[in-house]
Amino acid sequence: MKYDFDEIIERRGTHSIKFDSMQELWGRNDLIPMWVADMDFRTPSFIVEAIKKRMEHEIFGYTKPSDEYFNSIIRWVDKRYGMKVCKEEIQYIAGIVPGIHHAVCALSEKGDKIMIQPPVYHPFKQVIEGTGRSVVQSPLILRDGRYYMDFDSMRKQIQGCKLYILCNPHNPGGVVWSREELETVADICKESGVMVISDEIHADMTFLPHKHLPFAMVNDWTHENTVTFMAPSKVFNMPGIIASHAIVFNNDLRERFYSYLEQNDLIMGNAFAYPAVEAAYTQGEDWLKQMLDYVYENIRLVDTSLKQKMPKIKAILPEASFLIFLDCRELGYETQEQLVDFFVNKARLGLNDGAMFGKEGTGFMRLNVATPRSIVAEAMKRLEDAYLGEGF
Ligand SMILES: Cc1ncc(COP(=O)(O)O)c(C=O)c1O
Repeated sequence: MKYDFDEIIERRGTHSIKFDSMQELWGRNDLIPMWVADMDFRTPSFIVEAIKKRMEHEIFGYTKPSDEYFNSIIRWVDKRYGMKVCKEEIQYIAGIVPGIHHAVCALSEKGDKIMIQPPVYHPFKQVIEGTGRSVVQSPLILRDGRYYMDFDSMRKQIQGCKLYILCNPHNPGGVVWSREELETVADICKESGVMVISDEIHADMTFLPHKHLPFAMVNDWTHENTVTFMAPSKVFNMPGIIASHAIVFNNDLRERFYSYLEQNDLIMGNAFAYPAVEAAYTQGEDWLKQMLDYVYENIRLVDTSLKQKMPKIKAILPEASFLIFLDCRELGYETQEQLVDFFVNKARLGLNDGAMFGKEGTGFMRLNVATPRSIVAEAMKRLEDAYLGEGF
């Protein structure tokens, strides 16, 4: 079956955060919203059908995950990553960010230090601070259009930390960490005895020739010292369904984390989540491949437009996912507010302010291209007009 990613679907008026919060945020509604990380593509029909089928029963009582739910996850991670998981090691979680929050609460104490690598997905910092832990940062290094880890800084910063939150692949940098990089990370964590929370929500959207390696699969130590979070939500455009899961192999670690969830009544999923996940992971392979091919072309369109017409804005090309970090430092704005103002009020585009990912994101903006190509083209036209209008 050939899926249609060109179709423009009206999302305004659906309480979409991406489309219906623009006035509140930017004081105007005429922007093309290219910020929140969901897609403007139709959620695949096999997921819609699975939800409809469940809906037809017309009783939405408390629901437990089915064997089919677990089996679909088990088969998916085995086929894609050679990751051997059994049912007991999987735990449904109502969103990865809440999952990270719970893992931080279960596996550390107030005042403990937790390391992150900015610029990085902003809720990591928020969760650490919100739970009374203390944020330790080891910033990434941008070199020749790709972010790299600073291992010397990591070795220093990780001393005395209780946990480290790894973004694998990285958002907003779009990096698919290589085996060598992850092996070095594993050595650093092992030497300092720091457990790892690995957020792998973007993993299934890795572009060839890059290859996603789950951190828990790097070696025997990471297998026993990692809490992995995965989800079909981002990949199959169903984040509003709230369906994510954790995988923990080590018995003791699992007992600590999963019993915390159970004791605090945090394990209940909604009735539509389980069949939606099962449908995504049993029927989604072809849709995913086509979606990635389409998004890749969108990324190329942005990159080419920038190189040819707006050379002072540089795209950091993602090795995974549909988010492009734009390096806008050469535009020369003195403040981040001026840069945001350029995108909002001159180009009429709603992007994520790069500074939200840490001060290392100052001078950057994050662009979401999981949208029909004609919209990406229109966005590039608006950006070019604004760029020329400002005399860049
Ligand atoms: C790295 C990363 N983790 C987690 C999430 C959100 O996950 P959830 O909606 O399951 O909380 C996102 C969404 O953009 C993300 O980029």
